[in-house]
Amino acid sequence: MSIQLPSLKADNTLGLDVSTQKRIVAETSEDILKAWQLSQIERASFLILGEGSNVLFMENFNGTVVINRLKGVEIYEGTECWKIHVGAGENWHQLVKSTLEKGIPGLENLALIPGTVGSAPIQNIGAYGVEFKDACEYVDVLNLRSGDTERLHRDECQFAYRDSIFKHHYQSGYAIVAVGLKLDKHWKPVLTYGELKTLNPATINAWEVFNAVCKMRQSKLPDPAVIGNVGSFFKNPVISHEKATGLLSRFPDMPHYPQASGEVKVAAGWLIDQCQLKGFKVGGAAVHQQQALVLINVDNATPQDVVALAKTVRLQVGEKYEVWLEPEVRFIQARGECNAVEVIS
Ligand code: FAD
Ligand code: EPU
Repeated sequence: MSIQLPSLKADNTLGLDVSTQKRIVAETSEDILKAWQLSQIERASFLILGEGSNVLFMENFNGTVVINRLKGVEIYEGTECWKIHVGAGENWHQLVKSTLEKGIPGLENLALIPGTVGSAPIQNIGAYGVEFKDACEYVDVLNLRSGDTERLHRDECQFAYRDSIFKHHYQSGYAIVAVGLKLDKHWKPVLTYGELKTLNPATINAWEVFNAVCKMRQSKLPDPAVIGNVGSFFKNPVISHEKATGLLSRFPDMPHYPQASGEVKVAAGWLIDQCQLKGFKVGGAAVHQQQALVLINVDNATPQDVVALAKTVRLQVGEKYEVWLEPEVRFIQARGECNAVEVIS
């Protein structure tokens, strides 16, 4: 007799055909805690997922996967701002839309980012000149060992480019259960990025920014419901000023973004594109034609296809530019997360 293990195919937006020993949908903090306690007794591995839009399963998971569906949105109106307490399992894009529908602007630049609200602080999601940290007041985390919930205020979260304390100290043994947002009533549009610069700040409203962002994203980013992907597969590398100057003397067209630290962020998508890798395939995985930073599942890709493709991309960019790309995506092995850079080096 063969036992069918729960599939995770619909729980990862790359659409990889992987399974787990146990799949639990959590609607309350207690559900998460119970699942964790049981996994401890069974000595099973444990993983929390939102919508699986930033994970690469490298093989079947050998343990318990908890799907976070903690719901609830509470809005408090103050004289200067709105404060919003949101359950970690709410969908991020729905939150952006529903706040605008209630006349609360501020999240519009972050429209159409897949995933749950509880995942947003982890890599400090960002797009079109705005990051999660700009709206964050606090993050509530459940300490799985003690059962207590701790509140981390924004300044304690160590937010940085695609980084936060939730990838470090609070990475294991904790579950994000809610976030608190604070949105200023004196709304100012953020029109600093790309095509948004052409819009008129004096007349524009938040819905128009929302629509412009959705249009730009839909023109280059594949919809995971149609074609499997995890958004940007790699982070944009941040390199030293000296290294950037050297590269710019050889490649004057290279897009680059000076940082407050003096370092320079460079566009990984451009680097990959310049290696003529758009459309390049390994098995069922390919580099997206419209956005080279996105790896896609074109034809029943296996985890090995995606890993081999990522290795090739990293090697070609590294050999040409001496810039070594690091995945943004979290690599998950049978027993838990592993070091993604080591896997593709
Ligand atoms: P998951 O993939 O489910 O989880 C990600 C990681 O967080 C995993 O390690 C998981 O174990 C952990 N985790 C999840 N929930 C919890 C929890 N409650 N407590 C503790 N740990 C948890 N990102 C951007 O920043 N900007 C973009 O513009 C952007 N565009 C994208 C476009 C597309 C088409 C896609 C597919 C992805 C894009 N992403 C973008 C990446 C992705 O949307 C974000 O990283 C998102 O926040 C992931 O949410 P998720 O719920 O799917 O996380
Ligand atoms: N570019 C190319 N060829 C490509 C892709 C990009 O030449 O195939 C060039 C573009 O012309 C532009 C530059 O590279 O000059 C940057 O491209 P883009 O504006 O598309 O942004 P990105 O750096 O590729 C980042 C984020 C996205 C976010 C957008 C908008 C990272 C790793 N990615 O992409 O986030 O939506 O900016 O702010 O920081 C994600 O994290 O999953 C994600 C999609």
